[in-house]
Amino acid sequence: MAKSKFEYVRLFEVDDRCLPNTWIVVRVDGKGFHKFSTEHGYEKPNDIKALSLMNRAATSVMEEFKDICLAYGQSDEYSFVFRKETQAYSRRSAKLSTNVCSLFTSAFVYYWNEYFPTIKPRYPPVFDGRTVLYPSNQNIRDYLSWRQADCHINNLYNTTFWALILKGGLTPTEAENKLKGTLSGDKNEILFSQFAINYNTEPEMLRKGTVLVRRKVPVALPNGGTREKSQIVQEHVDIIGDEFWNTNTHLLTLT
Ligand code: GTP
Ligand code: MG
Repeated sequence: MAKSKFEYVRLFEVDDRCLPNTWIVVRVDGKGFHKFSTEHGYEKPNDIKALSLMNRAATSVMEEFKDICLAYGQSDEYSFVFRKETQAYSRRSAKLSTNVCSLFTSAFVYYWNEYFPTIKPRYPPVFDGRTVLYPSNQNIRDYLSWRQADCHINNLYNTTFWALILKGGLTPTEAENKLKGTLSGDKNEILFSQFAINYNTEPEMLRKGTVLVRRKVPVALPNGGTREKSQIVQEHVDIIGDEFWNTNTHLLTLT
């Protein structure tokens, strides 16, 4: 077929295929969720419904993209790890990040009502998305450790900050000043001595975030007995230490 004289503009589209044999991570992050959470009455410092909605949206992404072997989420962000050898969208970076981000955002809105039945979204939520490559197993583990450490640091700070305000009667500025320069031991001590909160018994989803993985789980058959089925499950576990990786060696080995 004859090509139009405009055809040449295709050459302006540059190849953005991700390097072979590298871990591909797509991370989505809520845009301006400081405001979004306030406008929609999220509980402080953590809203279980909001975090559960994030987990639901991320599950939709993993259901659609079978090459995602693990996802990790906390606060207003989710990271999706594609198998090192994935050929999804010929590994094109923008295709991967935009499809994941778009599905995540639409699922967040699609399931909103199940988690916030009495609150109508006041405006459409927005998530940004990016693709990042990690060449070694150590790099991908360090990436996930970085996100979980971030979850821990922020959650300990926020839990103490809001306890000082909501239970201690401090203003936000007073609470901020009180926490300036404190180490994690100091925050644990404030929580325990002033508010009888043992940080280590706070819900694991808040302290550790959420890991989504595929596991074979037994499902009941209509005529009795069970059969194994792969399902996406939520776990709130430590992924910084070795234990998780030693018991899930399949995640980091090529298939
Ligand atoms: P950009 O990502 O740069 O657009 O800004 P942001 O406002 O989204 O901030 P960031 O992603 O750094 O942090 C997420 C923010 O979302 C937190 O600072 C909180 O204000 C808010 N947030 C996330 N989860 C919760 C929650 O469970 N409860 C409440 N109250 N706020 C939350
Ligand atoms: Mg954000």
